[in-house]
Amino acid sequence: MPKEIELPYNKGLHNFAIFTSCVTLLLIVAGALVTSNDAGLSVPDWPTTFGSIYKMPHMIGGVKYEHGHRMVAEFVGLLTIILAVWTWRAEKRRWLRLLGLAALATVIVQGILGGMTVLLLLPAAVSSAHAAVAQTFFCIAVCIAVFTGRQWIQEHPRTEFDTRRPTLFTLTLLSIFVLYVQLLLGAMFRHHGLSWWPHVVHAGVIAVVLSWTAIRAISVYGQVEAVKRPAVLMLSLMVAQLCLGFLAFITRVMWGQDAAQPELPMVIATVIHVAVGALLLATTVVLAIQVWRHVPVSFAEPIPGGEQKPVAA
Ligand code: HEM
Ligand code: HEM
Repeated sequence: MPKEIELPYNKGLHNFAIFTSCVTLLLIVAGALVTSNDAGLSVPDWPTTFGSIYKMPHMIGGVKYEHGHRMVAEFVGLLTIILAVWTWRAEKRRWLRLLGLAALATVIVQGILGGMTVLLLLPAAVSSAHAAVAQTFFCIAVCIAVFTGRQWIQEHPRTEFDTRRPTLFTLTLLSIFVLYVQLLLGAMFRHHGLSWWPHVVHAGVIAVVLSWTAIRAISVYGQVEAVKRPAVLMLSLMVAQLCLGFLAFITRVMWGQDAAQPELPMVIATVIHVAVGALLLATTVVLAIQVWRHVPVSFAEPIPGGEQKPVAA
């Protein structure tokens, strides 16, 4: 068996990845504030702001949300460049160095989508793509934080082979898939490209798939802390998100139809609903990664009456 190479733990890089993830969550809140306040075209040009690259506009009305969002986005862009370069130089794992580059590519695509949504006057498809790529980028930043963590590097994974069908790993992938569908349905509704009902109906699918995944993880692998923790968090966030969804629905669809301008309860409910959606997706991605590591799929053929020897994927 080849000798395992000890990976060094880089505290600075890990903390920086955590910081980048936290600022990205703030950026998602800032972006959601633009949409919820109907401030998308308060600054009509891009990449300039009212004709200038560096001049600060008067931060009044919708401009404070639109330009504020652009400023936080530029800061996250800068953090991502530093994160990618630092990972490239300090990291021994080639796939993680590539993940740093993937984060950089994603943030560039996201910036261009943000600009396009302004230049094309907020088409639903582009604004929804911008919403979906935002959460994808957040997930990548969180993954880099997990992979550079002390626990990931120093722990000896407690491996339990999964012989059940569907496997827990399949269930986590299915959870990620249904959450992405929900993100797109929610974004298309939010940007006036679709009615509200597909999103609300699909929330039922989410409740079933995520509960199934979490209950399997907690009941069968409850002793594996790295799996149990994200599973419990995923279930809690899902319940919170369902409640927030109803609040978003009441304030946006039932009360907000005839409102002359965005009202505060609607803004608060919808912005928190977007942010918790991002946290739920990232938690589910982390759960999938931990399941992949600690509960690999066994491909052993069941032999009736015989002892089963698991074979890893
Ligand atoms: C790292 C970069 C960025 C991230 C993570 C990000 C994230 C977001 C998020 C989460 C939203 C809310 C989507 C929704 O509520 O459905 C949003 C909205 C928006 N973003 Fe960004 N954004 C980024 C860069 C930019 C840039 C560079 C621009 C340039 C103008 C921009 C312009 C906008 C606009 C105009 C909206 C409102 C869209 C609408 O109301 O239809 N974003 N952004
Ligand atoms: C756990 C299940 C749910 C998830 C993961 C989820 C996720 C999301 C996300 C991510 C968005 C915004 C997309 C974007 O960034 O543009 C959204 C929008 C929305 N969701 Fe949900 N949602 C869920 C359940 C629900 C439920 C049960 C309802 C209502 C009964 C609901 C009502 C809404 C409404 C009204 C919007 C649009 C808000 C607006 O127009 O500002 N959601 N959802």
